[in-house]
Amino acid sequence: MSAAVLARGVRRTFAGREVLRGLDVELADGDFVALLGRSGSGKSTFLRALAGLDRGVEGELLVPSRRSVVFQDARLLPWASVLDNVVLGLRRRDALAQGRAALAEVGLAGHEDDWPKTLSGGEAQRAALARALVREPQLLLLDEPFGALDALTRIRMHALVQQLCGRYHPAVLLVTHDVDEALLLADRVLVLSDGVISLDAPVDVPSPRLRADRQFIHLRSRLLAELGVDETAEGAHDPLVVRA
Ligand SMILES: Nc1ncnc2c1ncn2[C@@H]1O[C@H](COP(=O)(O)OP(=O)(O)OP(=O)(O)O)[C@@H](O)[C@H]1O
Ligand SMILES: [Mg+2]
Repeated sequence: MSAAVLARGVRRTFAGREVLRGLDVELADGDFVALLGRSGSGKSTFLRALAGLDRGVEGELLVPSRRSVVFQDARLLPWASVLDNVVLGLRRRDALAQGRAALAEVGLAGHEDDWPKTLSGGEAQRAALARALVREPQLLLLDEPFGALDALTRIRMHALVQQLCGRYHPAVLLVTHDVDEALLLADRVLVLSDGVISLDAPVDVPSPRLRADRQFIHLRSRLLAELGVDETAEGAHDPLVVRA
């Protein structure tokens, strides 16, 4: 397997404060890796660096040229139709056909001519996913893409992302606050704390992954401890708790 991402000694300082302090991360082609960390630990900063959206980052960073990002909010242009949003900037001759196909894949066939503001939150995120996938990324960067969705929509989105990644095999880096989400979706979990990767563990939970599985529970405890969350505290399994 070749490396889809190679990050060595990545540093980022904001106004004299070092947020990333020599981060090392490697992702192989097709890896699905979740990145956890407390609020403000630098997860989005690292993701932006991988996306090529930050010029102030230092260190060695090798990433594929075809990268797509999905953020917590769909970031659709309000004045363009859903289809135009999906194909924006694509220069392929078959872009419109590919855009339609991508929308069908995320269950949005028939919404091509809709305005973004008429979509529900889950639909808008699916449109953002279609926009990311139509670019056939070798690296898919997901920054809490399900964070603003209700629990049921989130479960549907998990299934959709698994299905699409199973078909296209991009390397995926999923930033999330939700330990269970990380354990349900990822092959590997990373914890970012004090500017470095403090934990890098494979998710050895048999499929179908169940929250009640012993290995799931064991790994969840390990991750919560690494994140400094008291598991016995009320609401410890609420994904928002990690923000504390
Ligand atoms: N452009 C910027 N200018 C100044 N400080 C910044 C900038 N971007 C990020 N930071 C700071 O860097 C730190 C890490 O921010 P980042 O957004 O990467 O955290 P995060 O781990 O994604 O947090 P969250 O889980 O809340 O999204 C924060 O303290 C933030 O204030
Ligand atoms: Mg963030």
